[in-house]
Amino acid sequence: MRIFRSEEKLSPEYVPPRLPHRERELGLLETFFSSYMAGRPAVSVRTLIVGSVGTGKTVLSKLFGRKLEEANNMARYIHINCRIHTTLSSILKKVVETLGAPIPARGLSPEELGSRIIDLLERKKMLLVVGLDEFDGFLRSDPKGVYTLLRLGEESAKESRISVIAISRNAEVLEEMDEGARGMFQAGVIYLEEYDYNQFSDIVEFRCSEAFYPGVMSEEAKSLVVDMASERGDARYAVELLWRAGKYAENEGAARVVPEHVRKAAASIYPSIRREALTYISRHERLLLLAAARQLLTSGKSYISSTELYQAYKVVCEEFGSAAKAYTRFWEHMQRLEDLGLIRVKIGKGETRGRKSFVTLPGIPASIMVREVSALLESGEGE
Ligand SMILES: Nc1ncnc2c1ncn2[C@@H]1O[C@H](COP(=O)(O)OP(=O)(O)O)[C@@H](O)[C@H]1O
Ligand SMILES: [Mg+2]
Repeated sequence: MRIFRSEEKLSPEYVPPRLPHRERELGLLETFFSSYMAGRPAVSVRTLIVGSVGTGKTVLSKLFGRKLEEANNMARYIHINCRIHTTLSSILKKVVETLGAPIPARGLSPEELGSRIIDLLERKKMLLVVGLDEFDGFLRSDPKGVYTLLRLGEESAKESRISVIAISRNAEVLEEMDEGARGMFQAGVIYLEEYDYNQFSDIVEFRCSEAFYPGVMSEEAKSLVVDMASERGDARYAVELLWRAGKYAENEGAARVVPEHVRKAAASIYPSIRREALTYISRHERLLLLAAARQLLTSGKSYISSTELYQAYKVVCEEFGSAAKAYTRFWEHMQRLEDLGLIRVKIGKGETRGRKSFVTLPGIPASIMVREVSALLESGEGE
């Protein structure tokens, strides 16, 4: 069975041709750098992109870099990870290396190296934007270097051929800069908000359409990925879930990706099945958990309603020779299981009336849960 159309399109390095719900921010970058886009040197631009993990900072900056290079063949974008390149000297060496410039990096001070780069850009009429990802690493280990880099090329000419996009997940990064550096960024801060549920739906839809064959990713699995990702507000998690779920389906020879593949994917990312929690929950909580896991597994759904779960629980009670508790008691057990992180309950729209509770196993494959809990119930351990 063929699952992936282009598996590499779910790799962390891949930059998609568009970013749903980041069109405005991409447009902002293009506006900030409009001179460079048009091939004209201009006053140096310094932009700062701030957002939490998985808000698309890295990919946005890289996509802008690609647009810039497409718009003008004299413009270059170089993306540098400042967790690896933490000093000005290391960053400039990386620039020289990426440009393939005939500049001996050894034996030059960072300032000298900087002015050699400027000379080269002048001679070749090139324009350079440096994306400084994980900028905090640079700021922490070489704050003077930050200032030097920001001012590069300003002394010799008004028109600068080098500009900077700094990227940080730290909301306080501006405050950590000294006044000089802060002033240079202040006009150009772009904040990326966490994506919400609807935005994740569009993003997941789009990424699936690129990576999977049509119809391979079931709607149920897709919406489970959306739920899990929007809970964390993390697009990286979404992309990783898609890829891993696809791998599980592929390895099983399945024709489609279903919610159970997503649960397995989640468990493999955070192997957080809380075995110790299973050992100290009560017998009825175990019965309830077994019912939930079985129901999710056999129905192929990502969520089951609490009324459906109660019915399943009564069946399991009968099987294990226990009298089922009343609904209110059952609800208490459910809350306790949620507090322990063994199930997740969310409010959604019911089919017939009002809002309803739906239950899922967060990041725990139902099959593993069934096995573990059945074993405990049979042994009676810890009851
Ligand atoms: N708007 C979007 N559309 C499609 N994919 C996105 C979008 N935003 C982020 N991604 C994807 O989510 C993952 C995380 O994005 P990334 O730029 O690494 O986040 P950050 O750098 O903010 O932690 C990447 O695989 C990226 O391609
Ligand atoms: Mg990043």
